[in-house]
Amino acid sequence: MTHPNIVILTGAGISAESGLGTFRDEGGLWAQHRIEDVATPEGFARNPQLVVDFYNARRAQAAEATPNPAHLALARLQAEHSGQVLLVTQNVDSLHEKAGSTNAVHMHGALASALCAACEVRWEAPLTMHVGEACPSCSRPTARPDIVWFGEIPYHMDRIERALMEADIFAAIGTSGNVYPAAGFVQMAAHVGAKTVEMNLDPSATVNLFEEVRPGKASETVPQWVDSLLSD
Ligand code: APR
Repeated sequence: MTHPNIVILTGAGISAESGLGTFRDEGGLWAQHRIEDVATPEGFARNPQLVVDFYNARRAQAAEATPNPAHLALARLQAEHSGQVLLVTQNVDSLHEKAGSTNAVHMHGALASALCAACEVRWEAPLTMHVGEACPSCSRPTARPDIVWFGEIPYHMDRIERALMEADIFAAIGTSGNVYPAAGFVQMAAHVGAKTVEMNLDPSATVNLFEEVRPGKASETVPQWVDSLLSD
């Protein structure tokens, strides 16, 4: 195929070798914190300080992290591939951007962004957010982390679904396939005849839905995959 359209979904595993913890691996974030306390609207309403502190800690850690060869390889693919490449990430870090990817689609939001719960304006988040911070637009004390919490609707779904309908190749990298709608993207791509490939350290929950599996560390498997695509 001359200029295949590629849709890529990344998860926490692509940032693991940059030192950012994943969620469901041994000792991961969901072993350290209760999801209902730090990643739900109810948790934020119940104890906003706990939630703001949780994201401040992750924002500070992400600010110090550097992209690894997997992020860099995806930026190279976006720059050099002759077909369309849509990079969708479940991650809230900015490592794709730091690697040179310009239009990563953050379907679960981003640590770098703040959101007004009242007027829905977004702005660049300070490194440390505070409870009751005023919105720069409507001045109400309704600033919150711009993160999609459990029970909320992921961002950019129309754009993502349109790209999946046109995909010739779908690749999932560093995601356990536990959280929908992202975990369902492979079925949507396969349904339109796309070639599907999983690059993951361990088999994901949806590994059987992928045509091709490249097990291993993303910093090794992703550059190899990108080299194979660009040499076609
Ligand atoms: N290289 C490749 N894959 C890796 C690496 C690595 N170095 N290290 C870990 N992995 C894989 C693990 O095998 C696991 O399957 O990354 C996956 C991480 O899975 P999760 O921790 O569940 O993270 P993710 O799939 O991104 O979670 C999805 O769940 O909690 C929500 O919103 C949160 O976006 C997150 C979503």
